[in-house]
Amino acid sequence: MEIEFQNVGKKYESGQEALAQVSFHLQQGEMAFLTGHSGAGKSTLLKLMMMIERQSSGRIIVDGTDLLAMGKSLIPLHRRRIGVVFQNHQLLFDRSVFDNVALPLQVTGADSAQIGKRVRAALDKVGLLGKEKYNPMALSGGEQQRVGIARAVVNKPQLLLADEPTGNLDPKLSAEIMNLFQEFNHVGTTVLVASHDLALIARMRHRVLTLNQGRIVNDGGFN
Ligand SMILES: Nc1ncnc2c1ncn2[C@@H]1O[C@H](COP(=O)(O)OP(=O)(O)OP(=O)(O)O)[C@@H](O)[C@H]1O
Ligand SMILES: [Mg+2]
Repeated sequence: MEIEFQNVGKKYESGQEALAQVSFHLQQGEMAFLTGHSGAGKSTLLKLMMMIERQSSGRIIVDGTDLLAMGKSLIPLHRRRIGVVFQNHQLLFDRSVFDNVALPLQVTGADSAQIGKRVRAALDKVGLLGKEKYNPMALSGGEQQRVGIARAVVNKPQLLLADEPTGNLDPKLSAEIMNLFQEFNHVGTTVLVASHDLALIARMRHRVLTLNQGRIVNDGGFN
């Protein structure tokens, strides 16, 4: 997926200006990080991409389509093309690992054989194939996070967004999670990861967009 922000601003109803004049272009197949202080606007930017929030000014163009021109009926379809990973992974503890990962497929009306195949392929990618029958409660924090990633990619999204995906994890697990994102990127998924972890970001050697008070103050690579 290709994304272009043109002078995007977001002012919440409270009057809080979360983003101002944000412009960047994320190419199809690119991987980038989004960083900045707490309250800088990172989550807001991801929410605009998913159309959870709407911008107050400027344009957001996704694969050539202006999101402002996208009718309400097309929003679910748009969201289905995006996989999202949250810091608190938002797993459901009243069902198995398998069922958690299967959720995004169930709403698409896929048949159960297809669902089984896809879910196992996603769990295999994150190294959790042996734990499909477990309750997520019985998994470590890092394993739970990987279930969240499997769920985000099970639909083969064209864009993978992650919001502080390594917040609670130790450095080794954080590096593993980042490597997973990189693997998805290598097979063609566009990836944008919001993170505070500057040391980890530097090691990944990708493009880094830095927000400060809602404005992009740096857009560059590490070398
Ligand atoms: N729903 C909302 N209503 C009003 N203000 C909001 C809302 N969501 C976020 N904000 C404000 O917008 C600004 C940007 O918030 P945002 O959550 O995008 O920051 P962030 O960079 O993700 O921060 P963090 O690193 O703490 O997650 C903050 O000042 C925040 O208080
Ligand atoms: Mg945030």
